[in-house]
Amino acid sequence: MNWYENAIFYELYLRAFYDSNSDGYGDLAGLRQKLDYLEWLGIDCLWLTPFYPSPMRDDGYDVASFFGIHTMYGLMEDFKMTVDEIHRRGMRVVIDLVVNHTSDQHPWFQEARRSKDSPLRDYYVWTNDPTKYSEARIIFLDTEESNWAYDEISGEYYWHRFYSSQPDLNYDNPKVRAEMLKIVDFWLDLGIDGFRVDAVPYLYEREGTSCENLPETHGFVKEMRRYMDDKYPGTVLLAEANQWPQDLLPYFGDNDEFQMCFHFPVMPRLYMALARGERKDIIEIMDNTPAIPEGCQWATFLRNHDELTLEMVTEEDRQFMWEFYAPDHRHRLNLGIRRRLAPLVENDRRRIELLYSMLFTLPGAPVLYYGDEIGMGDNVGLDDRNGVRTPMQWNDGPNGGFSNARYESLYSPPISDPDYGYGHVNVLVQEITPNSLLQNIRTMIYQRKSLPVLGRGELRWLIDETPENTLCFYRKSDAGRLLALHNLVDEPVTVVIPNGSYTSPLGVGEITGGGDGDGMEVTLPPYGYHWLVPAQ
Ligand code: NOJ
Repeated sequence: MNWYENAIFYELYLRAFYDSNSDGYGDLAGLRQKLDYLEWLGIDCLWLTPFYPSPMRDDGYDVASFFGIHTMYGLMEDFKMTVDEIHRRGMRVVIDLVVNHTSDQHPWFQEARRSKDSPLRDYYVWTNDPTKYSEARIIFLDTEESNWAYDEISGEYYWHRFYSSQPDLNYDNPKVRAEMLKIVDFWLDLGIDGFRVDAVPYLYEREGTSCENLPETHGFVKEMRRYMDDKYPGTVLLAEANQWPQDLLPYFGDNDEFQMCFHFPVMPRLYMALARGERKDIIEIMDNTPAIPEGCQWATFLRNHDELTLEMVTEEDRQFMWEFYAPDHRHRLNLGIRRRLAPLVENDRRRIELLYSMLFTLPGAPVLYYGDEIGMGDNVGLDDRNGVRTPMQWNDGPNGGFSNARYESLYSPPISDPDYGYGHVNVLVQEITPNSLLQNIRTMIYQRKSLPVLGRGELRWLIDETPENTLCFYRKSDAGRLLALHNLVDEPVTVVIPNGSYTSPLGVGEITGGGDGDGMEVTLPPYGYHWLVPAQ
């Protein structure tokens, strides 16, 4: 099995993790100081969100230079030392590669907008007819009215799928494609283990289409993959493509495009199943998830640095999710919900752990979001998605142990409210408290690692024998068998397992019967779960 197929990923914002020089911003040296923690937690691979020079209008996804590091994070030497330190601990690191666009501050755009005759004009997509490509949807619905923005300087419109401060690159220009391969080369040469590739579906524009998932985009991805396989074997490409499973499948190609894709459709359905106390949404989406090529893997997640996206659900389900999880309209953003994991489920430890249990036992390699392992909260008072990007809470000291800077200098106020504040929600207190959320998540991670069937084992539902308000399934492979039981409701449920006898390495609730191979009964407490393996 390839390393990424059964790896535990951990996404973090450098800015938010740990500030080593007391300027109020997390940095690379700070991350190095916290690698012991990530190793202790059992993380296999870090994902660093963009740390390139940037005006930070989209928190670094607006790149002003692809070949550097934002001064607030440190120097290139820091980066190299950090990669070495990560590797020394047996972990790996992937970084964000923002392929679709740059910042409007990028020198390419500055030059391109200078005049219509600029030699770099064709690095971007220009028109004097802003009705072009009108079938392309607007993604940042709450802020943008069009995918075209008028450029005062050169008197034409330029194309942008995200903020207007992020002009899209023109992939029809072979020079742009060549530049991107140079960027890929530069970072892989520094020893990183791969890329989380941002906003993949939107690279090309064609009239009369949605300008998403076009064949030309797959062509470029294949080129990038070939390049990496030849020159940097063992590295990984992970796609951020927020699409339906059938549109995601082509991004794996014949394992000649991405080795991994985020499974966007399953994520909201885990929450939906909990809200409805019914398993059907999860089963439906997993049954509609096509098999992926050998050597490929889904990346699964509960939350990330963006809003909990409801793009991949029906209009009816979206309304349901908004009403259930974001009755306060301030929590709604674009087509999603800007909340962290713990507040989404009212800080209910049972539901938090149940969601993690589903994440760790369903197919895919789990990607954790920093802070969610301790149940951090969010701050709806902060703009855009900043409320879910607040400083990591290390201890109950000043600024939650994140920084020694004065509070006013911090890039963002740490969470300090009575429910989720760093006074009691922090790493230190949970490290020393048995059965804290952090300890339990760590136990799940270690259990998962000792059960290789969870890597690529096939999925088989236990439907007929079990009630609707549970999610019970087998994972099976040459590496063994695991039976996962989840209770989706706030009352006890008894599940009868017809054959075999099992022991439970992990779970909550009572197990009775079994032993003679004639089956057994498991009582799952409200929102309880069990991982069962065949008794020896
Ligand atoms: C997806 C990223 O996750 C998001 O944070 C960003 O705003 C857009 N891509 C644009 O780069």
